[in-house]
Amino acid sequence: MKREWTLEERYRVLEGPDDVKDLYAAIQKSWYRQKYHVQPVTGLSSDPNGFAFFEGKWHLFYQWCPWGAVHGLKYWYHAVSPDLVSWENCGVGIYPDTFYDNKGCHSGSAFAYGDDMYFFYTGNHRDENWVRTPFTCAARMDEEGRLVKLDKPLFGPREDYAEHQRDPKIIYVPEKKKYYIFIGAQTLDKKGTALIYESEELLSGWRFAGQLHVPGYEDFGGMWECPCIVNISGKDVLIFSPQYTTLPGRGNSTNHNVYFIGRMDYDTLTFTPEGDYQYLDYGFDFYAAQCAANVADPDKAILVAWIGLPDNHYPTEEEDWEGSMSLPRELRIRDGKLVQTPVEGLVSLRTGEAAADGTLPDICELEIAFSGGNADLALFTRPDGSGGVTLRYDEAAGVLTVDRRGMDKRFNEKVFEVLEVPVNGLRNIHAFIDRSSLELYINDGERTFTTHIYPTEGEHGYTISDNGSMKIYNLKASVTDEFVI
Ligand code: FRU
Repeated sequence: MKREWTLEERYRVLEGPDDVKDLYAAIQKSWYRQKYHVQPVTGLSSDPNGFAFFEGKWHLFYQWCPWGAVHGLKYWYHAVSPDLVSWENCGVGIYPDTFYDNKGCHSGSAFAYGDDMYFFYTGNHRDENWVRTPFTCAARMDEEGRLVKLDKPLFGPREDYAEHQRDPKIIYVPEKKKYYIFIGAQTLDKKGTALIYESEELLSGWRFAGQLHVPGYEDFGGMWECPCIVNISGKDVLIFSPQYTTLPGRGNSTNHNVYFIGRMDYDTLTFTPEGDYQYLDYGFDFYAAQCAANVADPDKAILVAWIGLPDNHYPTEEEDWEGSMSLPRELRIRDGKLVQTPVEGLVSLRTGEAAADGTLPDICELEIAFSGGNADLALFTRPDGSGGVTLRYDEAAGVLTVDRRGMDKRFNEKVFEVLEVPVNGLRNIHAFIDRSSLELYINDGERTFTTHIYPTEGEHGYTISDNGSMKIYNLKASVTDEFVI
């Protein structure tokens, strides 16, 4: 049963750990708690935020609503990792406790500056009539790892755009000797776009440079959430989450995560794509992806996304929690195309190979190879081989169809349960299974597919067509899941 929340309940301020101690204890009993994915201590986790490498550690924050699987007052929750594989909870990073962010610290990014680490986020201010004013705010990490806010926002919203102006992504462009902030936005006539601000200084002097132009995409969705721009091997990659529109092959979903490869010209504020937009991930549940700041290698980016979608509902809602971060991925350009692979360190989670006897361990990694032609794979089948998530490859059509209707626990049926992935000859699938997620890397990362999945007790089998072979690795847990607020 879907729970109804009042505004007061959703926007309740967290006074201290005691407020959610019992909720945490209850949630710990859930079978679906992830074992090697970052997830919320209680309540809801959504967008990754402030993702960066700094002084030998990876910092990852996420949008957190403590009270349940609902979008309300948002905090930045902080997790750290030495290697992008094992994660420790650090508690709240940014609290919505000023005038500027009184109704939430919304998404944003990180920037390493000399010996300091800065974070840029959207302060979601609402007045007593619930009228929204989004501010672009900043905070610095102090020696103890606490985030200290700047007294004043860097800038407020523009009146000539709608109230949807948020999710600052900050970068430095050496050729221009300037910092730029991209803000996800909506025009007054409800078209998605990004606004660009510039400054010679990191924390002052910010001015509006103009609206981003992407020729051919002046009318592409109604809001571009979480814009992110990153350079990989000399190519600019523009990633964002367009919403309020359906897109081909994405069922009835109105939330997407796409990218362009191309070139960003800061003189004309024009991003010239080399081709059409591409889906960052072809799965059901993948959104608001963000690349880490301060990755020293010019040939790769590291990306994390929210496993989940806005406006969608998941079975753990009943347990008052939902969402998790995706595994971090390495992004590279191969033959002019973006390829995504799981971060290398994940092999350290393997505890040994499991017998390929038709059952899947609770948490595991699969290396699946196909020798050509049509292919069939089903995961989480019942003991009699029925049900599960089915993957059917049609070689002539070049389409891999993923169908999750066979699972006992179905969800978001009206949005989509069957999706097609264009695949040019299915060679291999690298899969990661955690308690409530499935991530597929297809053909050495040419395509990816991410979904939540909630297998019940009897759903642990698999079947594979004769032209396929599978290696199964048992994995160990790598998230502490400790109660730290
Ligand atoms: C994307 C988003 C962002 C916003 C945040 C609020 O999921 O809507 O645009 O900053 O979530 O939680």
